[in-house]
Amino acid sequence: MTPIDTPRVLIVGAGLAAQYAALRFAPHPVLMISPEPLGSGASSAWAQGGVAAAMDPADSAEAHARDTVRAGAGTVDAKVAQAVTAEARAHVLDLTGLGTPFDRAADGAYILSREAAHSFARVVRVRGDQAGAEIMQALTAQVRAAPHVQVLEGVMATGLVVEDGRVRGVKVARCSGGLSRSVVLRGAAVLLAGGGSGGLYALTTNPPRIRGQVLGMAARAGAVIADAEFVQFHPTAIAGGPDPAPLATEALRGEGATLINRHGERFMRAAHPDAELAPRDIVARAIFAQTQAGLAPALDTRAALGARILTDFPAVAAACRASGLDPVTQPIPVAAAAHYHMGGIATDAEGASTLPGLWACGEVASTGLHGANRLASNGLLEALVYGRRCADAIAKGLDTDAAAPVLLPDLAPAGEPDPALVARLRQAMTEGAGVIRTGAGLRCTLDTIAAIETAQPGCDALLNMTATATLIAAAALARKESRGAHFRSDHPEVQGETGERSFFTLAQARQIRAQARKEPA
Ligand code: SIN
Repeated sequence: MTPIDTPRVLIVGAGLAAQYAALRFAPHPVLMISPEPLGSGASSAWAQGGVAAAMDPADSAEAHARDTVRAGAGTVDAKVAQAVTAEARAHVLDLTGLGTPFDRAADGAYILSREAAHSFARVVRVRGDQAGAEIMQALTAQVRAAPHVQVLEGVMATGLVVEDGRVRGVKVARCSGGLSRSVVLRGAAVLLAGGGSGGLYALTTNPPRIRGQVLGMAARAGAVIADAEFVQFHPTAIAGGPDPAPLATEALRGEGATLINRHGERFMRAAHPDAELAPRDIVARAIFAQTQAGLAPALDTRAALGARILTDFPAVAAACRASGLDPVTQPIPVAAAAHYHMGGIATDAEGASTLPGLWACGEVASTGLHGANRLASNGLLEALVYGRRCADAIAKGLDTDAAAPVLLPDLAPAGEPDPALVARLRQAMTEGAGVIRTGAGLRCTLDTIAAIETAQPGCDALLNMTATATLIAAAALARKESRGAHFRSDHPEVQGETGERSFFTLAQARQIRAQARKEPA
């Protein structure tokens, strides 16, 4: 089918990073590619915590940067942490100006939540757990009203188009009624902002479509992927309910909620001096161990919040109700679930990838901010900082302010990824590349991924997922130590105080996979 050419910048994704960047491009025309109706279906809309920023006069960007570096277990780029935290306040003020109703005191001061591994209460929030939803609602209203933004809804990107060594466009297909045959869109530049990889795991807090497809597209086009092995598991996903698992925000522990097991023991006291507010990887492993031992870990909000959970944390209360739980009178059963990918498309200070013509921001990118363990609520902050930087960098090379709307032709439906293969992939990732990893488990997972890849070879959406899964498992196999969220029970020690970040192309990850298949199990 003939490619469609447009002078618009092509933005893949519709979450916080994508929308914030889209607004910043004004008056340059952009085209957003959004699988779901704008503002829904993105991880950002599900974020309960908020945006980390030193808003209290007694706090400082320097302290925020220090906490970020400390949580990241020796692999955070300190310069990136300093620059990002220094910009945080300005972005919170900007979001406020764009209509986000952050919680404020009578004197106008922002009400701040405390989350794990922060030395200060510094997370701006909306009604306890509504930050992501409210920020996205405010931005979506702005994007819908912006004349320079065209949004293609119900359409997903399935691949990148590289011509003469430069990314020129994306292959897109309609989502409804099955993926359709794709058409090529060529634009002024391509910005990937399509979320993370959590849904590659059987137990996840991520929305159903967030399964590493956008990272996989970039990897299949040859982009370098950084820190792929670092996947963050959230300790308090609500257990035993729907897929994806609803989150019980860390801010609940900031308010004093405790973690107990079936015997009523507060097991985090023995695990870390900061108990429930220890770094997220440590809490996640403790929860995982309790689950494995059949000790039924649970989050007990009764004493700390009582009936206040119903009004102050409405999303958590609603998720509990949907699972038949009353959090006012019962502890909430929890499990560690894949939540955030610290790894992603390697990008520089302006968000440029290693491929000319391709930029990335938000969870799909790896800027060096998060290291091996992201500090809570730094994810939305990074999306804001790099969404803006990408837009500014790309806009420097643009020379047009006008573009006709892009009209997609009608396309015949084709096949979706086989759900049985996707389920097998997710199970293999949870079993072999999950909270606790071993060389043998990772080799087994890589084997399964290779088999899945050959089972439906023409399906781009599936191949994008298997590309990302390969990168995560191969990088985890190559890192023979335990660091932050990456824990190898066969290599439990940290090798040195600071660690190297990892950088792999998909070709290199596939070599590791091929080599692993030759090694004894
Ligand atoms: C949470 O609210 O617990 C999650 C916040 C985050 O992942 O940054």
